[in-house]
Amino acid sequence: MNGLVVLKIGGSIITDKSSSTPKSLADAIERIAQEIAGVSGSLILVHGAGSFGHPLARQFKLTEQFDVQGIIETHRSVKSLNTMVVDALTLSGVPAVPVHPLSCALLEQGRIRDMQMAPLREMVQRGLVPVLHGDVVMDSARGAAILSGDQLVPYIAQKMGAERIGIGSNIDGVLDNQSKTIPDITPSTVDRLRVYISGSSHTDVTGGMLGKVQELVELADKFGISSRIFNASTPGNITRFLKGETMGTRIQKDK
Ligand SMILES: Nc1ncnc2c1ncn2[C@@H]1O[C@H](COP(=O)(O)OP(=O)(O)OP(=O)(O)O)[C@@H](O)[C@H]1O
Ligand SMILES: [Mg+2]
Repeated sequence: MNGLVVLKIGGSIITDKSSSTPKSLADAIERIAQEIAGVSGSLILVHGAGSFGHPLARQFKLTEQFDVQGIIETHRSVKSLNTMVVDALTLSGVPAVPVHPLSCALLEQGRIRDMQMAPLREMVQRGLVPVLHGDVVMDSARGAAILSGDQLVPYIAQKMGAERIGIGSNIDGVLDNQSKTIPDITPSTVDRLRVYISGSSHTDVTGGMLGKVQELVELADKFGISSRIFNASTPGNITRFLKGETMGTRIQKDK
């Protein structure tokens, strides 16, 4: 789709991920909403779950077992974070609408098997900004599983033919062992760089930084689509990303 941007805002920015109970960061949510409102263009937004999702998913062992109460409580919690994000965007003048993956996607062994894309397409064509999030989703093999925002981004980007794809987190891209940003990762360099990349310093059931890199390397490898991991907690960086500036780590196919 012409000019479409798919952007994920990490749960590490909009929530306090060091908290074992849900704790939102209202100032950050408001700043992000204002930055998004300041740049026009087609956009699909995805946000992470942070402390609204990962601790509950761990508590109910949702990556290992089917648990009805766990599904209900985890979805309720991430949905409440989604409402905060959508409300902040609405107040800033962004025509945002909530889209809950539990209601429109099906997984198989934790990977998206099927997802309703037609409503998203119509929303974007009509100028709306769909706002999806990491969620607990039904799984044809396991009953239910966690669908991370990091998996949603490449899936949606590829299905919709997005022009720019970014995952914003709380760190300046993918860092090496000297805490320097690695400017480029490709399918052929990722194995050498993997030793530097681990999960998250906080509770994260979907693989932290390594999870993001694996998802985006697969997108580059399978479909030749480039993307970027950048620091969305630095004020102004979301604006810069939306305007097409380069920053952070680029993940792309080998030349
Ligand atoms: N080599 C690395 N470079 C950068 N970050 C790394 C690296 N290895 C591990 N990390 C960790 O990955 C974290 C970012 O991933 P994490 O999944 O916690 O954030 P998020 O995606 O913003 O949150 P959420 O999953 O709730 O959306 C960083 O805060 C850092 O602790
Ligand atoms: Mg994560």
